[in-house]
Amino acid sequence: MGAIADAGDDRSARGIAAVIGRTISSGELADGTRLPTVRELARRLGVSPTTVSDAWRSLADVGAIEPRGRNGTYVRRPTGPGLPRRYRRVTEGPGHFDLDLSTGTPDPELLPDLRPIVAAVSRQSLTSSYLDQPVIPELAERLIDDWPFPPEALTVVDGAMDAIDRVATHVVRLGDRVVVEHPAFPPMLDLLERLGCEIVPVDVDQHGMMPEQLRCALALSPTAVFLQPRAQNPTGCAVTAERLAELADVLAGTDAVVIEDDHANEISSAPLVSLGTHLPDRTVHVRSFSKSHGPDLRLAAVGGAGHIVTAVENRRLLGPGWSSRILQSVLLELLRSPEVDHTLEVARHTYAERRKLVTAVLDAHAVPYPDGDGINLWMRVADERAALVRLATQGVGAAPGAPFMVRPDLDHLRITVGNLRNADAERVAERLVDAAGHLPTSGGGR
Ligand SMILES: Cc1ncc(COP(=O)(O)O)c(C=O)c1O
Repeated sequence: MGAIADAGDDRSARGIAAVIGRTISSGELADGTRLPTVRELARRLGVSPTTVSDAWRSLADVGAIEPRGRNGTYVRRPTGPGLPRRYRRVTEGPGHFDLDLSTGTPDPELLPDLRPIVAAVSRQSLTSSYLDQPVIPELAERLIDDWPFPPEALTVVDGAMDAIDRVATHVVRLGDRVVVEHPAFPPMLDLLERLGCEIVPVDVDQHGMMPEQLRCALALSPTAVFLQPRAQNPTGCAVTAERLAELADVLAGTDAVVIEDDHANEISSAPLVSLGTHLPDRTVHVRSFSKSHGPDLRLAAVGGAGHIVTAVENRRLLGPGWSSRILQSVLLELLRSPEVDHTLEVARHTYAERRKLVTAVLDAHAVPYPDGDGINLWMRVADERAALVRLATQGVGAAPGAPFMVRPDLDHLRITVGNLRNADAERVAERLVDAAGHLPTSGGGR
């Protein structure tokens, strides 16, 4: 550890990263060695925690060190980027089910037909150049008109996770605390761990984050709060206007940035609310078009706090620059089409109906689940592994609950009931009841 303490004369982030990187490459700091905390090292070197944090981020980016959240940061041989562990666990099932309800993806039959839409895109829209605006002006206008609060800046990126990746990378530093819903979307947890954050969980009930828990979490001075305003994946919960006001009240005394992920967009039956209506200068709201209009459009809008959205836009100029304007033109036609509005309405109702068919059977057998909407159902089971195996032997795939957990909790499965045809719903629901096993009678929603 001495090598770290006398990290050479160059006390810049780059200098510190270079010295530690060399020490790792030479083997002086062995694979698996636990590194001191950012604050401790900053104190020892007489530099700011931000400098150490920047140095460690460079080392993490090349795979030389591995942040493991609150367990600390460890040396590892630079072998390239790490595999996202939670993401892999959700998707690693056998994959040969008669009925795969593990996916969390929309029913392709309920997505708008893109063929007439693509045909309606003008020839001019198919020939944009490097010199055009990153976001098609008519699309930007439409998105801003429809935004839950007047955004200081708005741009379009390649899906909600791209938005969250870019915003989080800009906002958080290695060692920062971030508040996240418990349970939460596994790839986002992987991302935050990869960025070296300490993740502070706040439980959700059927109306979103619980205000008193959020208050306690905010006492730890987190940099950011990540939440899903509706159709929360996995629980399906939606923030009500009343809960929103309570959360805004709790957040008011802090300077935490709020990052909202409206991943379900218009397939959710719940009205959209946003903390941006209360905290416009530090809320970044993300709206994905993947589940409503098509996952392969790879488009999401991100708007809100100008100093964050503009920084993300500027940084992106050094990479891809913009999201395909051909796809943006397709999205614009989709948003203008009354037929597509109708398709979305049908999708919304169909998802709600499929969910109801399943929950009626769960209710009859007192299997607990939280009230909610969207394509997923979060179901309590007595034993997660046994339930997955039992369903698999009957040809039904489900997602394990564990990768969604920020901290250990009761066993759950996430069932994408949105992919269930009405005719199958009752039969499959009976299998879910069977897989849930013997639950204590006072299980409650979660
Ligand atoms: C909560 C949540 N956020 C983000 C995403 C990813 O969205 P996109 O396809 O727009 O990247 C998903 C997809 O399932 C999700 O459930």
